[in-house]
Parts: sequence; C-alpha cells; structure tokens
Amino acid sequence: MGVTIANYAIKDPKIHDPVPVHEVLPLPVVITQDHLNKRKYFVESKWYGTLDPNEEVFAIFHCGNGAKANKFNVTKTFSDFKQTFEVIVPKKTQVITCRRGIFDIDSFRHFFKFEHKEE
Ligand SMILES: *[C@@H]1O[C@H](CO)[C@@H](O)[C@H](O)[C@H]1NC(C)=O
Repeated sequence: MGVTIANYAIKDPKIHDPVPVHEVLPLPVVITQDHLNKRKYFVESKWYGTLDPNEEVFAIFHCGNGAKANKFNVTKTFSDFKQTFEVIVPKKTQVITCRRGIFDIDSFRHFFKFEHKEE
C-alpha cells in the first residue's frame, strides 16, 4: 500500500533483516471551516504506520469546550488512512481542544487545538 515506513532507513549491511513492527502513527490533522455555517468544521484525522492494510481499526474522536462531533468511534480499515469528523462549535468559544486516535492493540491518542473565528 506504499506505506512501509519502517524499512527505508535500513541500508547498513551490518544490520540484519528488520523484525516486523506493528505501529500506528498520527499524521497532522487537516481542518476546514464550512463556507455557510462558520461554526461547523471538518476535521480530517489521518494516520499511517506498519499494520496490515486490511486490519480493522477504530477511529476515535472527541472535542471539549462544548463542541459536538458527529461521530465518536468509527470502524475503519487501516489502509483508509483517514476519517473525517464534523464538529459544531459553540458561538462564543475561541479555542477548541479535541482528542483523536486509533484504538486497537496498536494505538495512538493525540490532543490538538484550533481557533474558532466567525469572520
Ligand atoms: C469502538 O467500537 C468498537 C466496536 O464496537 C469497540 O470494540 C471499541 O471498544 C470502541 N472503542 C471505544 C474507545 O469506545
């Protein structure tokens, strides 16, 4: 699937064959604001890593500060590499903190913030 990150650095002939690794890593989120409803955001949670492309994973997402996400736990295939969530933020909130991750045997969990502006 083009994402075999673990092997690229191993060119040294003294180093033996790498041991297979199962690891999920986050890629930076991409956030866009809805054109009509300025309180609505689309958050693209992205990942990569060294799992089997067909492995089932759960994309988890939650925001604080009264912000509401449309989904909390979405069943994905590892090789989807992303899940988009919709978030509605309260009127007066300026900074939104969210948590995202992939939950499986191999997992990550990350917090991030973004600024809400209505103009
Ligand atoms: C997400 O959903 C799956 C399948 O229903 C479940 O096994 C898993 O525990 C859930 N994860 C969380 C963090 O709720």
